[in-house]
Amino acid sequence: MKNLSIIEALNKIGEKIEIYGWVDSIREHGKIVFIDLRDRTGILQCLIDAKSEYFELAKNIKPEYVLRIEGFVKERDQRMVNPNIETGHIELLIEKIEVLNKAEPLPIPIDTDGYEINEEVRLKYRYLDLRRKRMMRNLVLRSKTIKFIRDFLTDKGFIEVETPILTKSTPEGARDYLVPSRLHKGKFYALPQSPQQYKQLLMVAGIEKYFQIARCFRDEDPRGDRQPEFTQVDIEMSFVEREDILKLVEELLYKLVKNIFPDKKIKEYPFPIYSYEEVMKNYNSDKPDLRNNINDINELAFAFIIDFPMFEWKETENRWDAMHHPFTQPKTKSGSKEKKILLEILEKNPEELLSEQYDVVLNGYEIGGGSIRIYDPDILIKVFEVMGNTKEDVLNKFGHLLEAFKYGVPPHGGIALGIDRILAILLNEPSIREVIAFPKTGEARDPMMETPSEVSKEQLDELGIEIKEEL
Ligand code: AMO
Repeated sequence: MKNLSIIEALNKIGEKIEIYGWVDSIREHGKIVFIDLRDRTGILQCLIDAKSEYFELAKNIKPEYVLRIEGFVKERDQRMVNPNIETGHIELLIEKIEVLNKAEPLPIPIDTDGYEINEEVRLKYRYLDLRRKRMMRNLVLRSKTIKFIRDFLTDKGFIEVETPILTKSTPEGARDYLVPSRLHKGKFYALPQSPQQYKQLLMVAGIEKYFQIARCFRDEDPRGDRQPEFTQVDIEMSFVEREDILKLVEELLYKLVKNIFPDKKIKEYPFPIYSYEEVMKNYNSDKPDLRNNINDINELAFAFIIDFPMFEWKETENRWDAMHHPFTQPKTKSGSKEKKILLEILEKNPEELLSEQYDVVLNGYEIGGGSIRIYDPDILIKVFEVMGNTKEDVLNKFGHLLEAFKYGVPPHGGIALGIDRILAILLNEPSIREVIAFPKTGEARDPMMETPSEVSKEQLDELGIEIKEEL
């Protein structure tokens, strides 16, 4: 006898097995009690009749009790077959039931798709919300997707490297989450908005092909496609041009869809490539939805957008900001990257510059972005200056990178794919919260853990921090 998952019972007709799980539903029909037992692989109908010594026990069992059941697997009578579940043609004749734990009535239903339930309540009881079939499917496919990506990149010679979470502010355009230092009072770490600088430093280190399934943190207002913490497939390569990176990403996404989401139809392959100017003119968006029919849930319209402007004017701060990030290689409209020309235009007409940024869009969402990087320190300093930094600021904030670039930096470039967004689209979910096990609410709270939360005065004292009374 062996502990099996429920789906494995399909191969055990005529045999005695032992299964574990939760009571999905229980029905009494006169002298027979039917228990539908559920585990992560499926549901199995189990039945017990009045002759059994466990019959009384069975009658008192309630939904969501945790059980261990022993019994014989048999084929159901033809007219009892349930075509709606995978195990619908078999059932288990119960020999023994053990109640491993009782359960109170659940505060939320879990036999629906869950969209109808208030999100605050769903997230408060996320561990129950995840019991529903749809959420379990999402977690399983997320795991398969990440494994697929890891294998794909590893097979191509990429090295997976973990980079620090306690780090320094990196300019990806959002606010940083700060972590106070106890050992260095008055100083702060920042959580990474992305591993951008580390991956570039890994290129200086000679890694050549880096990737990471990287957690990123950005203090911005959450939306359907945005969370304060999210996951990127982060990639960086040395000695590459834009086309090498686009080809890699195209192959990765194509094979991912074919292998893990075979019902999906890719509208155009190779993915079309449009310039920023073109899409802004034709669709008034840099992430156009290019599907033939937006009601067709299986259609995937991937595209690359290239040739973005290097800078955009930030009205609120009255300064130029990098459209992607300041490490992106600028180029002239005619494509020149000659140093003398670039320095001159950076000085006089920064708005005229394009850049080596590229985005990947899918069905109207930006699912990835990257660029070929600046590897000339003079140009990097100039770009920071255009963005309103003094030379001193630049040395203060990015001295480590400029220092590293003195010792033989290879030409390099990379990209980061937003794994949550990709999954939400592939799983037909309206929000990335549906594909993240424990997401935050629209107000960046976790109602289950009750975070963010206050901390004790002792903890604050240790950090040398005082909370200002609200004004
Ligand atoms: P970027 O900032 O464009 O690039 O981010 C890359 C991708 O990450 C996803 N993304 C998010 N997903 C969920 N919630 C968020 N708050 C969020 N913010 C971004 C998007 C986006 O396309 N370091 C660069 C990459 C590089 O240059 O290599 C970067 O982070 O899908």
